[in-house]
Amino acid sequence: MPPSRMCVPKKSRIGFANRFTTAVLVLVLFVERRRASSLMSNSVDDWVSGSAVICNGIPGLTKEQRDLCYISPDVTVAALKGLQMAIAECQHQFTWHRWNCSSLTASSRTQKSSVLLQRGYRETAFAYAISAAGVAHSIARACSMGRLISCGCDPSSYTGRTPTKARSTHWKWGGCSHNLEYGMEFSRQFLDSREKAGDIQSTVNLHNNQAGRLALANNMQIRCKCHGMSGSCELKTCWKVAPDFRQVGKTLKDRFRGAILVAQSNLGNVTPLTRIRGSRRRRPERRQKKYRPGRDNNAGSKKKKSQGLAKQLFYYQKSPNFCERDPYQDIPGTAGRRCNRTSPGGDGCASLCCGRGYNVVRQRRIERCRCKFHWCCVVQCQNCTVEEWITVCK
Ligand SMILES: *[C@@H]1O[C@H](CO)[C@@H](O)[C@H](O)[C@H]1NC(C)=O
Ligand SMILES: *[C@@H]1O[C@H](CO)[C@@H](O)[C@H](O)[C@H]1NC(C)=O
Ligand SMILES: *[C@@H]1O[C@H](CO)[C@@H](O)[C@H](O)[C@H]1NC(C)=O
Repeated sequence: MPPSRMCVPKKSRIGFANRFTTAVLVLVLFVERRRASSLMSNSVDDWVSGSAVICNGIPGLTKEQRDLCYISPDVTVAALKGLQMAIAECQHQFTWHRWNCSSLTASSRTQKSSVLLQRGYRETAFAYAISAAGVAHSIARACSMGRLISCGCDPSSYTGRTPTKARSTHWKWGGCSHNLEYGMEFSRQFLDSREKAGDIQSTVNLHNNQAGRLALANNMQIRCKCHGMSGSCELKTCWKVAPDFRQVGKTLKDRFRGAILVAQSNLGNVTPLTRIRGSRRRRPERRQKKYRPGRDNNAGSKKKKSQGLAKQLFYYQKSPNFCERDPYQDIPGTAGRRCNRTSPGGDGCASLCCGRGYNVVRQRRIERCRCKFHWCCVVQCQNCTVEEWITVCK
């Protein structure tokens, strides 16, 4: 056991964010030091003890995750940043839902302490998918920015398809592509390793992890740069970039709406119960198509359909209504939530307040205003107090 472990009290009260920041700081210092000392013979020892300091400071890792962290502490920290980004995006996408993702934090995501993560709701599916995508996204970018020791720009030359943007000109792959492959693989190793039970919960979680990563992979973008005399664009070089994470969030939000209810057969397979969008005919003898994550589901004539299935989110439990506070279920309820009196949708008081009605309250907030541009180059604003009537759920 490395001696540094003793420095971390088992039930430390320091918040995750603090410990996380410390881990990042330690890592930055440590990586720099390792770069400086990489020519010296003791760098391996440094690496091992530095990893232990970082990895033992991260709460809630499983043994597999901790082992992975010892080998690649810098990638693990990028993975945790990806989880934080994923949760922030989840909160953005669900701002106007009764369940608004506020009960998830990056530490609950590694510790599975949130009850919701141990259920089979649509919301659970979304949380798993966006986390897996966030981890892959964060690492893919960090690789190409040269922040990680074990990976760099995507080395593959994509011999396959010509990017649409590059058609009709001479072009080649060049520049620095975000390393999607590496990010996807680490996301698999880091998150999928938690799901070994083989029951419906882990089977569905594995599926949703992969669906999240696909939402990232299918949204990769191509950037090109022109070469040639004064912008003549005789030749282009193109590279791949991960999309803005908002795009991934939007895609997964669509998948959330169309999530597929599944049930488990006694063989451990998962069977869709709802009709799959885009399938025109429904043949009874084929309806019970088995879907097995990780196997080749693209064989034969059902290729299109099962490719569609891989992208979809799976759930196996009906969601509660998330209306009333229930600490045992990790549900904060919607009392006190701001709502829109006139909206007929999910953000409307009728839906958000679950029929309890709403209060009209005067709210004061401070806004930036009367901004002025000063030469050169600062924008100075004043703080204005805005008072308005808002409606909040009873
Ligand atoms: C989410 O809901 C909780 C409780 O219902 C509330 O305290 C919190 O402010 C909400 N978060 C956002 C971002 O609206
Ligand atoms: C409330 O909802 C209505 C109808 O959807 C919309 O026109 C209005 O802009 C919304 N108000 C706020 C404050 O979001
Ligand atoms: C406006 O408020 C922010 C914090 O809310 C403060 O840092 C800033 O100094 C204020 N600016 C002015 C011009 O008062």
